[in-house]
Amino acid sequence: MATLNINGKPYDVQVEPDTPLLWVIREQVGLTGTKYGCGVAQCGACSVHLNGEVRRSCSIPVSAVKAGDKIVTIEGLSPDSSHPVQRAWLEVDVPQCGYCQSGQIMAAAALLAKNPKPTDQDIDQAMTNICRCGTYVRIRAAVHMAAGNSRGRGSIIHMADAADAVPADSTNNA
Ligand code: FES
Ligand code: FES
Repeated sequence: MATLNINGKPYDVQVEPDTPLLWVIREQVGLTGTKYGCGVAQCGACSVHLNGEVRRSCSIPVSAVKAGDKIVTIEGLSPDSSHPVQRAWLEVDVPQCGYCQSGQIMAAAALLAKNPKPTDQDIDQAMTNICRCGTYVRIRAAVHMAAGNSRGRGSIIHMADAADAVPADSTNNA
């Protein structure tokens, strides 16, 4: 048996020690916002926070989680979807199919907790989660929005700013 602290609550679970944390979260605890994608720590769909660090829960055996460790899943990021990253995701309308997005949001939240004003390069280095729908441009824009950045090369926000910044007479140049 293991006792896990998930989203601030203790859970006693009866599982084999090598059971991946992802399956405990989904099947024993019933929090299904954390998704299974590849199962081999490549895609990030299963991302959760473990003591504030983003981790891929498909590849953490439950025996590696200590009693005092704090696990946060997408359900625990905020009580009412009011985390700045969640609000930015809604504002930018990031998801397409949505499958990867809880992992993306958890990765973005962990990034901003450490680096409140990330550059595009910071975002690209930290956000290695895979999105099969290719929402990467909107993800980057939403991270900038959550950070309160008005710019970010390649982001939707940056492109909108750039359009606004075109000199009024530039369209008259032949
Ligand atoms: S399911 Fe864990 S990284 Fe893909
Ligand atoms: S939104 Fe479909 S996989 Fe990312």
